[in-house]
Amino acid sequence: TEKIYEHALEVLKENDQGSYTVPTKGLYPFQWNWDSCLTALGQFHYDEARAWTEIETLFANQWPDGMVPHIVFHVYSDGYFPGPNVWDTRRPTPTSGITQPPVAGFAIKRLYDRATDKAEAARRARALLPRIDAWHRWFYEMRDPGHEGLVAILHPWESGRDNSIDWDEAFERVPTDGVEPYVRRDTQHADPAHRPTKAQYDRYLYLVQLFRSLGWDNARLHDASPFKVVDPGFNAILIRSAMDLAALADELGEPELAARNRARAENSLAALETLWSDKHQQYLCRDRVTGQLIDSASIGGILPVFAAVPKARAEAIARTIERWANEVKYMVPSHDPADPRFEPKRYWRAPAWLVMNYMIQDGLRSAGETAMADRIVTSSLELITQSGFAEYYDPTTGEPCGGGRFTWTAAMVIEFLE
Ligand code: DGY
Repeated sequence: TEKIYEHALEVLKENDQGSYTVPTKGLYPFQWNWDSCLTALGQFHYDEARAWTEIETLFANQWPDGMVPHIVFHVYSDGYFPGPNVWDTRRPTPTSGITQPPVAGFAIKRLYDRATDKAEAARRARALLPRIDAWHRWFYEMRDPGHEGLVAILHPWESGRDNSIDWDEAFERVPTDGVEPYVRRDTQHADPAHRPTKAQYDRYLYLVQLFRSLGWDNARLHDASPFKVVDPGFNAILIRSAMDLAALADELGEPELAARNRARAENSLAALETLWSDKHQQYLCRDRVTGQLIDSASIGGILPVFAAVPKARAEAIARTIERWANEVKYMVPSHDPADPRFEPKRYWRAPAWLVMNYMIQDGLRSAGETAMADRIVTSSLELITQSGFAEYYDPTTGEPCGGGRFTWTAAMVIEFLE
């Protein structure tokens, strides 16, 4: 394990650009939102100050309306598509125009709780509190205009689970006419069989072009988008972050900010129950265009254990994970292996991802499901021993897939070993 730890540090350091870290060289040469927040947890173990900087750099690029973009294009690179000119968001430092799972509130609470220099950590946390609070407010204003208590994603890239089976049906409603000609770059860095299809990519770009034509005005995007999905995993991350931000704000003497975030989290936690499926024994996505639950048992519906869901739900989810685990070699597949649409190597349609394992085991542990949490950690470390620090893994064989020498995978390994 000492060797694995050393290797993980090496991966983090080689992807470190000074004030932010790239997910991996080549495939992802900029700063990604949730990658950075989770990466900070690993960085903390060798450089506490550097960990705070990672998140501060991201928030320095927050939009005036409160959104925190999913990519910050700090330094130009033509190795990635769609680059800043396609997004055309006209920010001082170019950014994308959509967001990503809001894991920052959770991350800074964890950094603060573990800090050795509490005064310094308090100073840095205090500066981030109002920014993260503004991002949370943005979500409820812009992505829950009907006050359902749950926020929608408007692009699969926002979920972080780009080509999940969850989006297939809703994506059929997204047209592709008028998509400008483009050349993909991802398939030059990674095996095309591990990546989204061309049909999906065309739709990713249709949405980008549509939002760009609306001037990235978030007050207009929600209603205009043909794709609006309520993802239980995404909402669970928001709920957990709001809860954690509230607890931290209380500790730092910001009771109003704390109360606001606690109210948001409690309201959303209650609304999350409308996504529970007895049939699948997990949560499901809801298509906000049709109002229907989406019959797709993905890891997005397992992730709510990361928020404080009722104990009976956490127990049921632990059993669902067990059922999935019995069908594969490594945990946790990102989709139910019994689903005929399960594709073991294709990105978010089955592969195991260490960040998901990390959040799921953390939630299971809080819910008292320690045995299953431990099993996930053991399986994660076995994957690394067999296959190194890949972007993700075929859960049926452990084969490394996607990009190599991957930052957040390394960060999660450091967390598992600490
Ligand atoms: C990509 O380009 O594959 C990313 O996942 C989008 O953020």
